[in-house]
This record gives sequence, C-alpha cells and structure tokens, in this order.
Amino acid sequence: MAKAKTTAVIKEQSPSDEQSAAKRIARQRKNKPENGEVTIPVSAGISVGKVFNQQSSDLWSLYHGDCCEVVVELPGNSIDYSVFSPPFASLYTYSDSERDMGNSKDYEEFFGHFRFLVEQLLRVTASGRLCSVHCMNLPTTIQHHGEIGLQDFRGDIIRAFKEAGWIYHSEVCIWKNPVTAMQRTKALGLLHKQMVKDSTRSRQGIPDYVCTFRKRGNNTKPVEGKLSRWIGDESFVSEGNLSIDLWQKYASPVWGDINASRTLQYTTARGENDERHIAPLQLDVIERCLLLWSNEEDIVLSPFAGIGSEGYCAVRMKRRFVGVELKESYWNTAVKNLQVAEAELAQVMLF
Ligand SMILES: C[S@@+](CC[C@H](N)C(=O)[O-])C[C@H]1O[C@@H](n2cnc3c(N)ncnc32)[C@H](O)[C@@H]1O
Repeated sequence: MAKAKTTAVIKEQSPSDEQSAAKRIARQRKNKPENGEVTIPVSAGISVGKVFNQQSSDLWSLYHGDCCEVVVELPGNSIDYSVFSPPFASLYTYSDSERDMGNSKDYEEFFGHFRFLVEQLLRVTASGRLCSVHCMNLPTTIQHHGEIGLQDFRGDIIRAFKEAGWIYHSEVCIWKNPVTAMQRTKALGLLHKQMVKDSTRSRQGIPDYVCTFRKRGNNTKPVEGKLSRWIGDESFVSEGNLSIDLWQKYASPVWGDINASRTLQYTTARGENDERHIAPLQLDVIERCLLLWSNEEDIVLSPFAGIGSEGYCAVRMKRRFVGVELKESYWNTAVKNLQVAEAELAQVMLF
C-alpha cells in the first residue's frame, strides 16, 4: 500500500496551550456534575463535548464515554475510515449503563440508538470513503423471543446504513468453526445427538460478516498501491505475482483463513487486573480491512473501541486512531494497548 512517513500527526500543543488546557480541566473538574461527567478539551483537533475521560498521543485519541455523544462532536468529513464491531443488539450486556447499546431493552431499542450513530458516521466520514461493520446473525431463544430461530441482524444493519444514505459497498463472510460454537453455546441446533434424533431442528453454525458501506461522492485521497503483506493463518505461497495473489485471497467472498485466536488479549502483555473482553475482534480481520481501505496517516475511527483492537492495528499500521469506549475497565486496557502499539511502531521505525 501507499508508503507514508509517520510524523507527529495530531496538532501539537505548545507549553502555554498545555498550561491553559490543564487549568481548564482543573476548573471543569471542580464543577464536575454528580454523575461524574466532565467536559474535557481535546488535543486531536476535534472538539469533544461530554466524556468521562480521555487520553491521547500524537497518533491516537481515546475517549471514555458514549460514542453517540462523542461522534456528534467530530467535524464533518474528518474520518477517512471506520472499522468496528458494535454490540450485537442485546446478545451481550457489557455494563448496566443506559448508554450501553448492549443493554437495550429489546431489538427495536438497540436500533433506535444505533441508527442515530449511523447517521452521524455518514456526516463525519470523508466523501467517497468507507465504514466496515463486523456482525453476525443472532440466534433467538424460547425464553426471549418465544421460538428458536435466527434474527437477521446483518440485514437490519445493512438496512439501517442504506436508510441513512450510505451505499452498501461490499461484504465478506468469515468462517467460524461449528464445533467451537457448539462447545461454547451448547445450541441444540448444533448438537450431533439432535441431528440423529430429528434433524429438522439442526442448523449450520453462524458465521461472522464484515459489511462495508461507502459515502457518496468522490474520494480525493486514493488508497493506491500494490499489496505486499499476507495476513492470515495458513501459509501463503505466491505463484509469482505477489500483489495479484494476495488480492485473489483478500477479494474472496468468504475468508476461511482468519486466525480466530489472534486477538488482542492474547497478543499484548496484560496486567493481572486488566479485564478480558467478551468479544474482541480478530486482528487478522481488522488488518485486512485497514490494508484494503485506508492509507497510512489516515484517521481511523472505532466508536466501540473495546480493549482497543482496531486502534492497536491502526497505530501499528501507521494510521491515526480515534476511539470511544463506554466501559471504564475496557477503556483503561485500550489505553495501555494503544501505548504498546505506539512503542512497537517506534521500535519498527528505528530500523
Ligand atoms: C463488540 S464490543 C467491541 C470490541 C472491540 N472491537 C475489541 O476488539 O476490543 C462492543 C463494545 O461497545 C461498547 N459500548 C456499548 N455501548 C457503547 C456506547 N454507547 N458508546 C461506546 N461504547 C459502547 C461495549 O462496552 C463493548 O466494549
């Protein structure tokens, strides 16, 4: 992909700026409202309103807060690419905050919240640029839905993006091992004994998808250049033309060669108290998306930053990163992971 230098990319503060910013923060902390929210000035050239906390460096800014409240503050056309995995409606509840999209009362409430974000993402994305959403269809249960079946979560995400004005641009299906899913979920439809007893209740495993959407208009910064890096779990041998061979793998509508266990919590050193994420996005998936759809130095956004997987990959790949995470323990871990990424990049840049 296009080569670029890693320079200090986010506006540097002069010492006097720093002092006045520190004074402003101190003043705001004094006036801190009861719910713990403070308004914190940002050093990334992006003026953010209400967040609980924020950390940034030359290469990244990470906000502890509600993505809806942060993204609404970002300037229009300022984001070159977004890649993220939203809460899967109410499949997992990450916290008891009413802002937590995984804490929605039902599917409709989740989409009410999510649609607002999708509209804002369109506004902040540069014209002609992309947004990739990792998702899966959701199993329904007798307890919550009255019957066992599937909910078309992927389709509802696509409809929400199209209704907001995005172009449905691309989609890849990511293979998932049904045996691992059966062991983890004990879903009736995946059990061999159920298939023997009555296979009308048996089903395939549920794959992941990355659905990618494009903002209308011309892209003024082409993402150009040949491919030179293999990302995936099997050994890859080029037949002679590396970029074409890689493209044939990455252009496949099904990615069966993603290393499912290459996630951030097993990659970086973690402190004993760092919380594991319930659903970290595989680094192979993020890296492929970043390689295909962003340039070095681009600003990459993840509104659901979790423990920082998208940011970790973005910084190591010389992009800049803006992330938002609501859960404090994940946000703390994400800050550490971004610091690790920055140190690793600095190490690489030495050679
Ligand atoms: C599927 S996880 C993302 C995991 C992330 N891709 C990673 O690999 O670490 C969804 C995340 O969204 C966060 N979240 C839920 N509602 C949010 C909101 N309104 N604003 C910001 N983050 C939110 C959850 O705490 C959770 O960490």
